[in-house]
Amino acid sequence: MADFLKKKYNIIDNIYTFEIKDSSTKKVTEFYKFSPFPNYKETDNKSTILDKGNKNLLAAQFKKFVGYKKNVLEVGCGTGQLSIFFSIGTNNNIIALDPTIQSLKLAEKFTSKYDLKNLKFINADIFDDVLQKDYFDFVWCNGVLHHTKNPYAAFEILIKSLKKNGYVLIGLYNKIGRLRTIVRKYLYKIFGEKFLIKVDPTLRNLKLDKEEQKAWIRDQYIHPIESLHTLDEVMRWFKKNNIEFVSSIPSSDYDYDYEDIFSPKSPGTFFSRMLNQFIMIFNSLGSDGGLFVVVGKKK
Ligand SMILES: C[S@@+](CC[C@H](N)C(=O)[O-])C[C@H]1O[C@@H](n2cnc3c(N)ncnc32)[C@H](O)[C@@H]1O
Repeated sequence: MADFLKKKYNIIDNIYTFEIKDSSTKKVTEFYKFSPFPNYKETDNKSTILDKGNKNLLAAQFKKFVGYKKNVLEVGCGTGQLSIFFSIGTNNNIIALDPTIQSLKLAEKFTSKYDLKNLKFINADIFDDVLQKDYFDFVWCNGVLHHTKNPYAAFEILIKSLKKNGYVLIGLYNKIGRLRTIVRKYLYKIFGEKFLIKVDPTLRNLKLDKEEQKAWIRDQYIHPIESLHTLDEVMRWFKKNNIEFVSSIPSSDYDYDYEDIFSPKSPGTFFSRMLNQFIMIFNSLGSDGGLFVVVGKKK
C-alpha cells in the first residue's frame, strides 16, 4: 500500500488509479480530455519546464520555500507541468492528483522520459477522499476547486491530508476580479473566436500556438462547471478548518509586496479586501482571468 493513499487502488501505466464515478467530475474530465490543460509544446523538455516554473512568481517562491525532504501534494495537476517543476532537482516527494487520465498520461510520459523518480500521479476525484490524513507538508491547489460541484466540500477533503504546521495554497476565480472575463464570455457568444483573440490579453500578448490558444479558450470561456469566490469566503473556509491566514494575492491589506507569500501578512479589513478585489478588474490579475490566491497554515 502506498503510504500517501488510504484506499485501495490499481496501478495502471505507473499511475495510481481509482474509478471516477461522479457525474459532474466526469463532465469535467470529458471536457479536458480533448484539450489537456496546460498543454505541452513539441519542444518542451526538462529545461523549458524549469524555465517556465522559475518565471512564475508563485511557483518559484513555493519551490524555494518548500526546501527539501518534504511531502508535497498538487490537487488538480492537469498535465503535471507544475509538479514536474517542483520535483526537478529536489528530493521532495511530490504527489499529483487529477481525475483526467488523458492529462495524467502526458504527465507520466514526460516523467518517465526524464526519469523523475520523486513524482507520483494519482488518477482520482478529490471527492473520493483517497489521500492519507495528515500526510503532506504542502498542498497546492490552483485553478481547480471552482471547476468542481462543491468547492468548499472539496477544500474540506483536501485539507485533511495536510499536516499540522503545513501550508496550503488555494487559487480560485474571483467574484469581482473576473468581471472582464465574464463580459468577454458573453461577447464571445455573440461575436465568436476572432473577436476573442483581439480582446483577450492572454491570447493577444503571449505568442501562443494554436493548441495553446484552443486550450485557453476552452478553459476560460466554455467550461461546463465554473464558480466564483471571494477572499472573505476563503478566509471563512480557513477559520472553519483550523487554518491560519498567511497571505493573499491580491493583498488583503495595503501591503502589495508579493515577494514573500509565506511570511504572515495582515488580513486587513472587509473594506481593504473588497477594494483590492475591485482593483483586480483593472490590473493583470483581472486581465488574466481573475484568479486570486490565498495561503494558509494549519494550526
Ligand atoms: C484549469 S485546470 C488547472 C490545471 C493546473 N492546476 C494548472 O493550474 O495549470 C483544472 C484541473 O482541475 C481538475 N479537476 C476538476 N475536477 C476535479 C476534481 N473533482 N478533483 C480533482 N481535480 C479536478 C481537472 O481535471 C483539471 O486538470
